Amino acid sequence: MKQAGALVLLAALAACGRGEGGGAERELALTTRGSPEAGAQAIERYGCGACHVIPGVRTARGLVGPPLSDYARRAYIAGNLYNTADNLVAWIRRPDSVEPGTVMPVLGVSDAEARDIAAYLYMETATRGLGPPRLLPAELLERE
Ligand code: HEC
Repeated sequence: MKQAGALVLLAALAACGRGEGGGAERELALTTRGSPEAGAQAIERYGCGACHVIPGVRTARGLVGPPLSDYARRAYIAGNLYNTADNLVAWIRRPDSVEPGTVMPVLGVSDAEARDIAAYLYMETATRGLGPPRLLPAELLERE
């Protein structure tokens, strides 16, 4: 039964990668070179959820900042930067250097942790409907 579930999941992922939707988002997640699973943990550790609604992160219910859903489908980060992995990492690490005076604080997130967080946010879009992205290890996604 468990195995059948995994097969269904793989089939859905494969369909997602090839068909419309999911593919581009997955590509974005891979360009972060981060781990979505570690990203989910970093999001909880840094308390991003005090200010943001983040799908798949139960405790992330804050309304100070915008919800971080469908992040791979956005054109811009904070209305300022093109939505690329490097720009998202830069924003997460130093929001003030992109937008002086922003309410989002510099939390001391390392480059590696920011890459993990970016991978989580992008994967959340790519695997919509397949459960929390933390259940999908990066190795699985790299296989074509
Ligand atoms: C004290 C509240 C606060 C905390 C904590 C916080 N943020 Fe933010 N965040 C904001 C606000 C406010 C904005 C909107 C900034 C703007 O557009 O000027 C924002 C914007 C963002 C954006 C851009 C959203 C968009 O619409 O493009 C991302 C991505 C983001 N935050 C990620 C994070 C992550 C990841 C963490 C944890 C490491 C975090 N934030 C922690 C308040 C916060």
